[in-house]
Amino acid sequence: MDILTLAIETSCDETSVAIMKNGREIMSNIISSQIETHRLFGGVVPEVASRLHLEMINKIIETAVKEAKIKLSDIDHIAVTCGPGLIGALIVGVSAAKALSLSLDIPLNGVNHMQGHVCANYIAHPDLKPPFVGLIVSGGHTYLIEVLNYNEYIIRGQTRDDAAGESYDKVARTLGLSYPGGPEIDKLSKLGNPESIDFPRIMLEPGSYDFSFSGLKTAVLNYINQKRQKNEEIVIEDVAASFQQAVIDVLVVKSFRLLNELKYKTLVLSGGVAANSSLREALKKRADEEGVTLYFPPVSLCTDNAAMIGCAGYYDFIAGKRSELDLKVFPNLKL
Ligand code: KG4
Ligand code: ZN
Repeated sequence: MDILTLAIETSCDETSVAIMKNGREIMSNIISSQIETHRLFGGVVPEVASRLHLEMINKIIETAVKEAKIKLSDIDHIAVTCGPGLIGALIVGVSAAKALSLSLDIPLNGVNHMQGHVCANYIAHPDLKPPFVGLIVSGGHTYLIEVLNYNEYIIRGQTRDDAAGESYDKVARTLGLSYPGGPEIDKLSKLGNPESIDFPRIMLEPGSYDFSFSGLKTAVLNYINQKRQKNEEIVIEDVAASFQQAVIDVLVVKSFRLLNELKYKTLVLSGGVAANSSLREALKKRADEEGVTLYFPPVSLCTDNAAMIGCAGYYDFIAGKRSELDLKVFPNLKL
């Protein structure tokens, strides 16, 4: 018998509701982005995010059910992001999920948003199964993990300060680009020379799989400020391309060092920064050289969406996990 999941994602600036069949098949995946509003402020304003989620959530639930051509009573369980994310934004999604779980009398699964990002790949690649090495690069987190099973991970490395996406957004803001900065830098970099400025590749201690992008971000900001003070021309395409190359070099080196150490031949990329065309190309090139199979989701499933949360919730559900109606939100939830 098919299992239908209604999934809700409201951890940041997308209000999204999906209906998933057996975890991996999208029946509907509605995403209402708040980006245009936050762009006016140069970044996500948490209070505005919560209010917009609240305005949209019921409408998006209705649309997702309608588009999937089902009735609410057909749904078997509810999955919802309970962290990490913005506290007020998470509360809107979790409250809606609890209301549905209670009124339909069906189980509830609180989902870790970062686990959701990995699961975007199960939706995009029906043949993919654990174990593999996962590289998750999002706006708030960077993780290198060993995925042992659908809901079993070993964290091998994580960011000690800024996440990869966060450094993209901060550098873009200083360059005067609009929010979110990642896609803007991705585009501009194609017009610049990635070798023109030698920004640092921060590797940390030998053997470490952790990341640190704040030193790189500071180096780029210092470069821009010094040029401005001296009234020298800044070729923003070159800055963007050189910054991006420094991020990519670190991600590629650490991912493949871990693959070799653990003797894995599958690398799975996910998170908002996984949409980056140069990162995908660099990982693909190295994967081909080393006989590694690389998976990444289509751009639409890299950034935040409820389908990936439904997939993660499904695997928790079939493993027998359940959340109670007193489920809390966890803004700093770890994997
Ligand atoms: O995973 P995500 O949607 O949200 C979080 O869970 O944090 O990631 C958003 C991040 C932002 O920092 C955004 O700038 C970055 O993903 N991003 C990109 C690209 N598209 C989105 N970064 C680099 N290149 C892109 N094409
Ligand atoms: Zn995300």
